[in-house]
Amino acid sequence: RTTAVILAGGTGQRVGLSIPKQLLKIAGKAVIEHTMTTFEKADSIDDIIVLMAPGYVPDIEKIVAKAGFKKVKKIIEGGSTRNETTERAIAALGEGLAEGEDVNVLFHDAVRPLLSQRVIDDCVTALERFQAVDVAIPSADTIIVTRTHGEDGEFITEIPDRSRLRRGQTPQAFKLSTIKRAYEVAAGDPNFQATDDCSVVLKYLPDVPVHVVAGDEYNMKVTQPVDVFIADKLFQLASTAAPEQKGEELYRELLTGKTVVVFGG
Ligand code: CTP
Repeated sequence: RTTAVILAGGTGQRVGLSIPKQLLKIAGKAVIEHTMTTFEKADSIDDIIVLMAPGYVPDIEKIVAKAGFKKVKKIIEGGSTRNETTERAIAALGEGLAEGEDVNVLFHDAVRPLLSQRVIDDCVTALERFQAVDVAIPSADTIIVTRTHGEDGEFITEIPDRSRLRRGQTPQAFKLSTIKRAYEVAAGDPNFQATDDCSVVLKYLPDVPVHVVAGDEYNMKVTQPVDVFIADKLFQLASTAAPEQKGEELYRELLTGKTVVVFGG
């Protein structure tokens, strides 16, 4: 079985609204409802669990009732960091599992509402061969590494070869037993620090290869205020195409010139 875990425990400080950004309405629906709809529709996903910012669980219950989602099995409060939220999800996923039983799990940021079915399917397929899977796209920008020298500010220490650099997205997909074990080892590290889940496997289970699946330019994370505007435009664009053409499928059409979109029209 494959469960999608929607990580929505954050409050969206950088976007800076009075509600968590995952509840912001874009194109007529809360950001997280778009995300949940994508997993609800995915043939390769059996169950969904949502980890929501404390105090906002009822908002998700309302969305589930109104949209009639059938796959949502649990809605629980997230933790104070993204990794704590993941750990709560791991604990919830373990409940009711028989001894030795393993399942697939896809952790996805609630605030990446433009995820494509292709990326979900590629993650699930990759789990047939690998225990840990990341999703990433090439970086168009040059990435520089810097160090701060007191009052003089930042200086470059390294410019890694761009052809090998990728920008990590989500989902991040795992065999439940693997990600559980990684967090168990991490629990023994007093200096534990991470912002995603693949880095926990990479650091604490060095023998487990983390496979990389091609992501999608559309699969943006709503992080800064400008992203709300960009996501809204992308949804507008998607709404001019057939419903199944969300995400990368539409992007391909745009590239080949089959679809003409007028921005701001
Ligand atoms: N997340 C989570 N639990 C947390 C923090 C974050 O589940 N304690 C989730 C967010 O809800 C989001 C995803 O992780 O879907 C990516 O995190 P980010 O964009 O950093 O979200 P926020 O923490 O909400 O934003 P900010 O850092 O601006 O406050």
